[in-house]
Amino acid sequence: MQNFIAYIPTQLHFGKGVIKGLPGASLPFGKKVLLMYGKGSALKNGSYDDTLQQLKIAEMEVFHFDGIKSNPVVEDVDAAAELGIAKQVDMIVAVGGGSVIDSAKITAICIHDQVKAWDVVKRKVIPTGAIPLITVLTLAATGTEMNSVAVLQNHKTDEKLGYGHISMYPKHSFLDPGYTLSVPANYTAFGVVDLVAHCLEAWFGAGDASLSDRFVIAIIKEAMEYGPLLMNDLNNYDLRARIMWAATNALNGLTSYGRVSGDWAVHGLGHVLSYLYDTPHGASLSIVYPAWLRIMKDRIPARISQLGEQLFNENDPEKTIVMLEAFFSELGSPVRLSEIGKTDNEVEEIVKIMNHNRVSGMNMRLSEDDRRQIVLQMV
Ligand code: NZQ
Ligand code: ZN
Repeated sequence: MQNFIAYIPTQLHFGKGVIKGLPGASLPFGKKVLLMYGKGSALKNGSYDDTLQQLKIAEMEVFHFDGIKSNPVVEDVDAAAELGIAKQVDMIVAVGGGSVIDSAKITAICIHDQVKAWDVVKRKVIPTGAIPLITVLTLAATGTEMNSVAVLQNHKTDEKLGYGHISMYPKHSFLDPGYTLSVPANYTAFGVVDLVAHCLEAWFGAGDASLSDRFVIAIIKEAMEYGPLLMNDLNNYDLRARIMWAATNALNGLTSYGRVSGDWAVHGLGHVLSYLYDTPHGASLSIVYPAWLRIMKDRIPARISQLGEQLFNENDPEKTIVMLEAFFSELGSPVRLSEIGKTDNEVEEIVKIMNHNRVSGMNMRLSEDDRRQIVLQMV
């Protein structure tokens, strides 16, 4: 086991009606709020109204920044930071899924240090801090509500990059599974894929950490049991709650402590599909994971076999891959490029941007030829 520091300074408020804790959570930080949200779902699922009502109870002055797009872009973050700086806000409240919350995380640094978002992501500036961030999560998937990571894309530089900084942990995150009842079937499935993929990135990382391995398996089993039930019963609060909590734990550190690193190649490869075609994050992962596993089958057969034994009672690596792929498919998430309307005509374009982003695993390094072989497996 490697040395590690366990530090999660986010207070997580989980369950029905927890938003009532927002006044108490926000008042210590000041009186002026930058309220960030996406393209409208928050207005329909009750999260926006409830948040605004609680901010009124706290007598906050609220400035709105809406329209954050899925697979968020750097320009929106700079614009949000400009507004926050001009209005001298004390904190950000972000209502939405990973895209809104990730944007808010970088905005919080940009306001605090008065810097540009891409300079932060590219590590040209080192943050001295961030203004406090409170999140109201409406989509179970990324785990951003309890970690210090954000992912942003820049169409001027052809990049979609992850960035982590300790100042970006939300101070509080409000997780009411009721807000996720309105998530449509496709994004519900993508969320389950994403949480499973986070576990797999940990599993295929470097180092020997048996307890973290057991957390990985437990979380994936939770997703395999309750994910399909949820897909058949989207209005079921209890199933929404189970998946929401599983997603949070899939990327809050629990599955990584004691390892040298996760792998994360599949995420990097998937980000290229999202960057090029606006493919939803989870959908990109269900396409890339089976392809990556097929390239890795002869390099790490024992690790794939161990996974198969734990999840499917099956120790053959290829059969394990087929069963994982079938799980993604049955949820309703694509496993081939053709399912997102792409053909082998796009292979060169995808490989080019993967090479430009120098996508590789932290454990299993990828060459240019590996990337091409993986993309060919996706066709
Ligand atoms: O824009 P609105 O109208 O809010 O609609 C969103 C969006 O269209 C909608 N939605 C959200 N909550 C809803 C809802 N629709 C109905 N009912 C609700 N309750 O869902 C769509 C997708 O939202 P988005 O926030 O983009 O999805 P997700 O949470 O999957 O976030 C994806 C982003 O997070 C990054 C991804 O790369 C991607 O950019 N990730 C962030 C991570 C992190 N910070 O730790 C880790 C992940 O691996 C991931 O890379
Ligand atoms: Zn992910």
